[in-house]
Parts: sequence; C-alpha cells; structure tokens
Amino acid sequence: MSKTLLLLPGDGIGPEVIAEARRAAQALWPDLTMLEAPFGGASLDHAGAPIAEETIAAAKSADAVLMGAVGGPQWAGVARDKRPEAGLLRLRKEMAVFANLRPALCFEALADASPLKRDLVAGLDILIVRELTGGVYFGEPRGIETLPNGERRGVDTQVYTSSEIRRIARVAFETARKRRGLVHSAEKSNVMETGLLWRQEVAALHEADYGDIRLDHILADNCAMQLVKQPKQFDVIVTDNLFGDILSDEAAMLTGSIGLLPSAALGEDGRPGLYEPVHGSAPDIAGQGVANPVAAILSLGMAFRLSLGRDALADRLEAAVRKALDAGARTRDLGGSLSTRQMGDAVLRAL
Ligand code: IPM
Ligand code: MG
Repeated sequence: MSKTLLLLPGDGIGPEVIAEARRAAQALWPDLTMLEAPFGGASLDHAGAPIAEETIAAAKSADAVLMGAVGGPQWAGVARDKRPEAGLLRLRKEMAVFANLRPALCFEALADASPLKRDLVAGLDILIVRELTGGVYFGEPRGIETLPNGERRGVDTQVYTSSEIRRIARVAFETARKRRGLVHSAEKSNVMETGLLWRQEVAALHEADYGDIRLDHILADNCAMQLVKQPKQFDVIVTDNLFGDILSDEAAMLTGSIGLLPSAALGEDGRPGLYEPVHGSAPDIAGQGVANPVAAILSLGMAFRLSLGRDALADRLEAAVRKALDAGARTRDLGGSLSTRQMGDAVLRAL
C-alpha cells in the first residue's frame, strides 16, 4: 500500500537538512509519496499564519510528518500567536502527539566529540520521553497584563491531569521494557503541585502494571546534574513538557552534537507521528549549506520504523549513517569540513 510523508522544511537550516532526508527517502523507497508545505516563518511570510489550515489537514491525513525547524530573528517581534513556534505548538496539539521520544545515543566514532570525557559517554544510550501537548506550554491563564499601579505582570500556568500523566508514563514503561528496564521520572515534587501529582500518578501506574520495571523518582534539577556527572546511569527518563525541553537539549550535547539527534512525537496508535530533528533553525549558519543533516535523516529513519511500518529501511538508514561516520564523514559541528550536501552524499554512498 502506498504511504504518504508530509515534509515541512520550515525555517533556517530546516530546508537544507530536509532536502537531504528527502534524497535518502527517494533512494530507499521510490514509491513513497512525499508532499511538502511551508511552515513556521516561511508560512507566515507566504500565507499570513505560521501554519495554514490546509497544512494541518494534510498532516492529520498523512501517514507521517517530517519537519525541519521553525523560527529565526526576523520574526522576533511578531505577536505570540503568529510566531513560527506557535505554528509548531498548534501542529503538535492538533495531531495530538503527546509522547515525544528523544533518544541521545553516542556513536562510537564520535565519543571524542563530546565535551565530556570519552569513558563517561562512550556507548551512551538514553531515551527522554517528554510530555508534549500539556503543561506550561498550553496551560491557561497566560499572558502579560498591566496592573493598576503601572507594574506589568506575566503569568504562565503549569497544569496536568492524572490521565495526561498516566498516558505518558505508560509510554515510558512500555519503552523501557524493550530496553534496559529502568525508568527515571523527573519532576519538582518538592516545590510544585503538578510535580507532586506527577510523582503520585507515575508511582501508582508502576505499582499497578509495571512491577518488572525499576522506577526511580528524581528531582529535575538533580537529573540535570546527574546527566553530566554520570550519564550512563540512565535508560529512560520520563518528564513533563518544559523539563523535557531542557533536559533533552542537555542530553543531546552529551553525544557530541545536537546536529545528530532525531525525535519522534507520537499520539494514539494508528495516528500519524510527527518527526523532527532535536536541533532548531540555527539562524547563525542558515543558508550556508554547512548544517549537519544527520538528525533529519535519522528522524526519517524513526518515521520509517514507528509510523510507516518499514523497520528494514530504518535499519539500513541507521547503518548507513553509522558507516559514514565511521569512515570519517564530518560536518563542521563535528570538527569536519563537509557541506550539508556532501554529508548527505556520504550517507547515500553508504546506503
Ligand atoms: C523543541 C523546541 C520547541 C519547544 C520550540 C521551537 C517551540 O525547543 O522542540 O525542543 O520548546 O518545544
Ligand atoms: Mg527545545
């Protein structure tokens, strides 16, 4: 049966890295239908909104969506609801992709590219399971108001329900079962009500259904510290939207470059997943053709595996990336001099 992949290249280095993922997809699966739409700032400039209604409809009816990145300094002054990032948040919410899987895997060939010592990171394999459609990213009320005395007041609301916590915790436990059977649940139950609820709900689900998995509760600040102190103690880390945003950037850097890490955002079974490189739009290097396309290519691999039912293609793509890196292919972020296109070529050659 033919499958459809919607590409949303977006802003900054997004179009450059998605072009390489597209070439890899074409090489591996010539019959895959690929559609493309503007997204983020590119969509705002072109159609007056960071995501068009047709694009949301196309995303919901595709088998998977692969996006590049959104945002850039040229849209810094735009009203919040029109900002490129608002388009991404809307897409996540509309697609109901509540479970964001962000693996941090240290490739053997790159253990020396990490800012940490080789033996701390060689063989590292962590999975951050980030709640993606709730928490402070979406909580109401929010806004900036001016008080009668002229002072301004900004409000964000962190809010979680027990069902939101349990469904993301279930994803973490199920995934841990296929890995090393260890889950750390990170929150701030020492100061936050949502953190306390998080801890209680995760513990209750663990007790009811996942006695075979080891569960450790950890305060999010300590988790940040332990990630640099002894990263290999972790297998799966489950956490809320905001802590997951922060901890996944930190974990990404342990592997040598944020330019290597893919991610998947999943909803209920059978619904399309949203795949994206963990890196952002990197305006400082956008348009120069020097960005690392590996994260985008590996995100395509995750789409093959988790939404498109093509495990064998995902295996081949991942093996090709490993082989290219083993052979010394390096973009600038990894201390090399290959262009985005040349790195894409190296992966295609290895395929
Ligand atoms: C990420 C990004 C986004 C987020 C931004 C671009 C809205 O940092 O995917 O990690 O905060 O979720
Ligand atoms: Mg982030």
